Amino acid sequence: MIETRYLTKHYKDVVALDNLNMKIEQGQVYGFIGPNGAGKTTTIKILSTLLKPTAGTATVCGYDVVRQGKHIRRHIGYMPDFFGVYEDMKVTEYLSFFAAAYRITGPEREARVKDILELTDLGDKADTFVESLSRGMQQRLGVARVLLHDPEVLLLDEPASGLDPRARIEIRALLKELGKMGKTILISSHILTELAEMCTHVGIIERGRLIAQGPIKEIMKQATRHNVIHVTLADRAAEAVEFLNSHEAVTQARQEDGGVIAVELNGKDSGPALVAELLVKNGYRIESLKRDEASLELAFMHLTKGIVS
Ligand SMILES: Nc1ncnc2c1ncn2[C@@H]1O[C@H](COP(=O)(O)OP(=O)(O)OP(=O)(O)O)[C@@H](O)[C@H]1O
Ligand SMILES: [Mg+2]
Repeated sequence: MIETRYLTKHYKDVVALDNLNMKIEQGQVYGFIGPNGAGKTTTIKILSTLLKPTAGTATVCGYDVVRQGKHIRRHIGYMPDFFGVYEDMKVTEYLSFFAAAYRITGPEREARVKDILELTDLGDKADTFVESLSRGMQQRLGVARVLLHDPEVLLLDEPASGLDPRARIEIRALLKELGKMGKTILISSHILTELAEMCTHVGIIERGRLIAQGPIKEIMKQATRHNVIHVTLADRAAEAVEFLNSHEAVTQARQEDGGVIAVELNGKDSGPALVAELLVKNGYRIESLKRDEASLELAFMHLTKGIVS
């Protein structure tokens, strides 16, 4: 659906994108993560056909961003990181105005605006003046605006920035909903955890290069340095620690606060299954057992360690 190949952008002597190779398949909700100045906005602007690359290529829905921009614009909804709102316009008028710009006319326009208001949960704000909406609602209105022409691809540049926790949760829920509707969504953010639960895939960009890309689970796995399993036993914990430490597959087992045993394994796979088997076979009774998933933030720090100054 979206593909960049050796995409490069120079602003005079600043290299904003440096041979960026990125691929997003249909239906993916792709978190585009990177620190300030990494090149997220530059990439999104090129994909939206607003900016020309210096070198390399990019396609959206199979169309080339430089040569076939007109086709692309019909299939995408682009929400910039900053967008102005119009004064003296009510929410409904605002959306009707943009629907008209997309040549949606007559009763269809009215129906479309109504549907979108509902979808974005702005129904009760239909007659409110846009400038008096809270930032969170304006942000949702921004999403509403890019949905009017029912695009297949959404390019959203930091849709959750500047929002309070509650508004963030609301916009996340909305984006999750859009993902379920089958839209292909690229969302940028510099906070990985913000996107963790709603993305299917992530790409991490650093200084104009993609340093990691893949299903969110794999990225996390890649970032997990140790394979650690947390186990709680019904009894005989100290004895179990000693037993585990004597096993060749175990690098280290120790008892942590609250009686949880942290078991670090040599191998990378089948961790929980192996630990369960060892314990059960030797008569220990397990109350709970799970892999210690590295928090995404940790994963991010690990992946970008040494790259971000
Ligand atoms: N119009 C411009 N002229 C010159 N340099 C620019 C311009 N726009 C961006 N840059 C530079 O290009 C690099 C990438 O910027 P970009 O805005 O794409 O990053 P970003 O990942 O979106 O950052 P942020 O998280 O701050 O939004 C930065 O070094 C930035 O200073
Ligand atoms: Mg940006």
